[in-house]
Amino acid sequence: MRNFDFKNPTKIIFGKNQIENLSKEIPKNATILLLYGGGSIKKNGVYEEVIAALDGYNVEEFGGIPANPEYTVLMNALTVIKEKKITFLLAVGGGSVIDGVKFLSAAALYDGDEPWDILANRIRIFEGMPFGTVLTLPATGSEMNSGSVITRAATKEKLPMGGPGLFPAFSILDPQVIKSIPTRQLANGLADAFTHVLEQYITYPADALLQDRFAEGILQTLIEVAPKIMKDTSDYAAASNFMWSCTMALNGLIQKGVPSDWAIHMMGHELTALFGIDHARTLAIIAKSHYTYNFESKKEKLAQYAQRVWGVAEETIDESAKKGIEKTIEFFQTLGIKTKLSDYTDDYKGTASIIAERFEKRGMTALGERGNITPNDVKKIVEMSY
Ligand code: NZQ
Ligand code: ZN
Repeated sequence: MRNFDFKNPTKIIFGKNQIENLSKEIPKNATILLLYGGGSIKKNGVYEEVIAALDGYNVEEFGGIPANPEYTVLMNALTVIKEKKITFLLAVGGGSVIDGVKFLSAAALYDGDEPWDILANRIRIFEGMPFGTVLTLPATGSEMNSGSVITRAATKEKLPMGGPGLFPAFSILDPQVIKSIPTRQLANGLADAFTHVLEQYITYPADALLQDRFAEGILQTLIEVAPKIMKDTSDYAAASNFMWSCTMALNGLIQKGVPSDWAIHMMGHELTALFGIDHARTLAIIAKSHYTYNFESKKEKLAQYAQRVWGVAEETIDESAKKGIEKTIEFFQTLGIKTKLSDYTDDYKGTASIIAERFEKRGMTALGERGNITPNDVKKIVEMSY
């Protein structure tokens, strides 16, 4: 096992009706900016619950943060933060709203001219404006990590940012919010969380027995709850396990002491930036080719995954590992997720070269857990995903 530090300061408040405890977490004298997305919280009752819980506070609002949070929209929110002298940000939404708020937390204290530089120059954030979250969509783990991904439509870019200053102060996780989530977003949440675990687990053996079993436990739980939650979003047992699995998949715990990959995400973000494909679906597009292309260096963990998570009984490592890839793709497909780029766009030719060139330009020349995936490899992997 590798050496590691681990600190996760986010307080999780989990369970039925926990939104009513919101006021216990925010200083009484705070001027709050409540931020949300396209309006789902106004249809499912979450908005009313939040407003009731914030009775007595000075609250301003900013709605309209789109899926794949857009820089220009966030810049309008930044103006509100400055004009209204906001001191506390409250994200009520899924990964997009939470990521947008993380960017704003950083931008509110940033003294450069152009906040996009935080993303373009990969500035690590050690201090931000304090913020909390009320999660409405289990998927990204953003509610308990310090990362964020921001989109800029004008340049078709989607770039990550983060740093130890960007953990939420608290996150409220009430699994009852899942009731109103559309099937497409449920499938996305399951596939995204599943791939988060794979990115931290399908690497190479590192004598990290407990981390492997944490990872396998999350994968098995997601597989178990997937059909239940897809069938009935008011199944509280399934909803609560789904929600907690998504948080645990990307709150930093399972990646401690082990190598991690994240190349699928890096390539996937480009597909969202170029074609607007939902984040989770981009991962499903890239996964098979990534694992097939890097088969030799990943086959031991792929075989372990196939045997322990899917119970396959193939005799050789190669056979088991191949089954592991097949089972993964089948899982995405059972969620109704298509796994080829050409399923989403007719305009896919040339995509691999564009992405490889972008990576070259940004200096992203050593991806994967071994740092040996070059832009040329990226080109081949994306081509295999057409
Ligand atoms: O905008 P509203 O109207 O709220 O509707 C949203 C949105 O249309 C809807 N929704 C959310 N909760 C709902 C609901 N509809 C009904 N009932 C509810 N309870 O779902 C739609 C998608 O929401 P979004 O927040 O975009 O989804 P998700 O949570 O999957 O977030 C995706 C974003 O997170 C980034 C992705 O790249 C993408 O931009 N990620 C963030 C990560 C992180 N910070 O750690 C890691 C991930 O790998 C990922 O990159
Ligand atoms: Zn993801």
